[in-house]
Amino acid sequence: MYKITLKETLSDQITLMKIEAPDVTRHAKAGQFVILRVDQQGERIPLTIADVNTSDGTITIIFQVVGKTTYMLNQKDKGMYIEDFVGPLGMPTHIENLNRVLVVSGGVGAAIAYPVCKALNEQHSLVDIISGFKNKSFVILEDWFKKVSHKQYYTTDDGSFGEKGFVTDILKKVIEENQYDHVFAVGPIVMMKAVSKITKAYHIPTTVSLNPIMVDGTGMCGGCRVKIGDSIKFACVDGPDFDGHQVDYDNLLKRNQMYLDKETKDFKQLTSRGDS
Ligand code: FAD
Ligand code: FES
Ligand code: MG
Repeated sequence: MYKITLKETLSDQITLMKIEAPDVTRHAKAGQFVILRVDQQGERIPLTIADVNTSDGTITIIFQVVGKTTYMLNQKDKGMYIEDFVGPLGMPTHIENLNRVLVVSGGVGAAIAYPVCKALNEQHSLVDIISGFKNKSFVILEDWFKKVSHKQYYTTDDGSFGEKGFVTDILKKVIEENQYDHVFAVGPIVMMKAVSKITKAYHIPTTVSLNPIMVDGTGMCGGCRVKIGDSIKFACVDGPDFDGHQVDYDNLLKRNQMYLDKETKDFKQLTSRGDS
């Protein structure tokens, strides 16, 4: 059992939790994730390791409530326990030898982008971020990004914070004003696809962090199969980072929608019962 030592609401649907898991903190690197189970009957879900504190043995996770399991997790409070918390899983993000980097995130993707920015900043790479959100009430981690990046650009769909529009609307301008040797993109699949299309035209190597359905997180179940160029990879062990110019995004979108009906039904059942 893993104790929740802190719970903070970051925005309407986004929560930060610190979980006591000293074994996970010892080896965790930027880009890796955990797979957790809220209770014994619960399903396994992957969440990125947003931050690590080796002195108090805690891992920070930041999650958006989108369905049954994230809803159940959000019902837990400080001092309560979750059943399983396995990690670190996946390959760390490759950040070596990068000097001038642009990190682009959409929505809760900011939580996945933050540890990459932090690690780049620690190795003295110069990092800028473009972070896009639906509107001002969804903006998260603004102060965190200020500490680990050089320039911060924000967009919101309605213009209530930063520039009005999508991250891709300002991406070309930002790329043309700066000389980036690498771009990281993380967020909705369509966003990563659009970012990669633009950076490909500018010949900037691009890494994306993929979010396929994961079950065991060990390469055994095949749930997280993704098509990268001509190869088939398992995102839980080969990723979650991949070359953004090689990913078959349409295949990923199709696979992620496979369980949508059941997930929506489960969530409706849970929330209509008012479970806690
Ligand atoms: P559901 O209603 O079951 O599903 C809602 C949507 O979430 C689905 O349509 C699907 O796209 C996705 N999803 C559902 N089950 C899974 C699963 N087992 N594995 C992967 N995706 C699933 N979200 C965050 O908010 N913060 C994070 O830091 C974060 N990190 C992630 C890191 C990785 C490597 C991956 C693969 C996903 C990450 N996600 C993160 C997404 C998160 O796992 C899903 O939002 C969560 O599993 C939804 O579960 P649910 O039961 O609440 O919703
Ligand atoms: Fe099962 Fe990746 S989650 S193979
Ligand atoms: Mg679910």
